[in-house]
Amino acid sequence: MFHIGPHQIDPPFLLAPMASVSELPYRVLVRDMGAGLATTELISAAGIHYRNRRTRQYLTFDRERERPHSVQLFGGVVEVMATAARAAAEHGANIIDVNMGCPVRKVTGSGAGSALLCDVPRAVAIVSAMRAAVGDAVPVTVKIRSGWDDNSRNAVEVACALEDVGCAALAVHARTRAQGYAGRADWSVIARVKKSVRMPIIGNGDVTSVADAHRMLDETGCDAVMIGRGALGNPWLFASLKAGRELGPPAPAERVALITRHLQAHLAFHLGLSTDEERRLMRTPPELMAVKTFRQHLVWYARGLEGARDFRQRAMALEQPAAVLDAVDAFFSRAQPERGAAHGALDDELEYAQALG
Ligand SMILES: Cc1cc2nc3c(=O)[nH]c(=O)nc-3n(C[C@H](O)[C@H](O)[C@H](O)COP(=O)(O)O)c2cc1C
Repeated sequence: MFHIGPHQIDPPFLLAPMASVSELPYRVLVRDMGAGLATTELISAAGIHYRNRRTRQYLTFDRERERPHSVQLFGGVVEVMATAARAAAEHGANIIDVNMGCPVRKVTGSGAGSALLCDVPRAVAIVSAMRAAVGDAVPVTVKIRSGWDDNSRNAVEVACALEDVGCAALAVHARTRAQGYAGRADWSVIARVKKSVRMPIIGNGDVTSVADAHRMLDETGCDAVMIGRGALGNPWLFASLKAGRELGPPAPAERVALITRHLQAHLAFHLGLSTDEERRLMRTPPELMAVKTFRQHLVWYARGLEGARDFRQRAMALEQPAAVLDAVDAFFSRAQPERGAAHGALDDELEYAQALG
């Protein structure tokens, strides 16, 4: 258990913000499984500031089950970040998180995401202005990487500067921007940051099992552990983390029930993103768009199961929600774990850019 401002977070195992993954349906699922917090994917502060309707839809959350609710904003302009923070808080967010780790050029090009690691005065000004805009009841947190590149591993400097202006907690992804998602995360940076500040530190990078999570807590002294790729297609990991031991793979019927629930919530959420008018003008029917965006989840759910390769090919061709339901039932009600397969294997081919694009 740990605190972010006035909010108690228990257990200290968090779903990482992930573009096109940490959407309302998946956030609710992992919280029901036992995650202590599930921050939204990165949301454009400019989109909120300029009242883009669709961006504002991304602020929608489950007011009962997502408490406290944490919204991640990205942007490089101080005033825009401050107004967006106020709007998110007015919309019900309990915690505002600032993205200072995103490596994608579309984001860093405007001075946002990991580019803020190269401009500490601006990073500090953003957090100050956001805090002033929302007040103490809504703590502001930040997620960083260990630095921009090998020549600039400044996580400790950034952490101290942010703490001085009242940052309430800091998540540290133990890779530089230049590393992207390649190679192993170097957890020693998390330990160094933890020793340098008093605010809670959330460790992040390469945790895919209960043993990994406890090793990170022990080795770094961090207050909480954030899990990204290891939770793709594996919300059950949070049940194991909460229990403090590996509970083993779910029974087939449970797997089918959960994926079906996820699919239904995903369809409802994505259909709700567009107005009737927009739907009339869309070249791709909204149901098809929703199925397409669900395909990645199907592939992740199948990871580590026998026959996953064939299923993956079939999943990529699915177009109708009813066909997805049939395919889920046919495959997952029978599929057995491959011998020796670890579900949590990280996908090297998985690219942030792909998720954003
Ligand atoms: C598909 C995908 C999307 C991501 N989107 C975001 C995001 O929106 N905001 C963010 O701060 N980090 C994002 N990340 C980074 C993760 O939050 C996390 O820092 C990173 O994956 C390392 O943790 P892991 O080794 O547990 O995956 C994303 C990562 C992935 C794989």
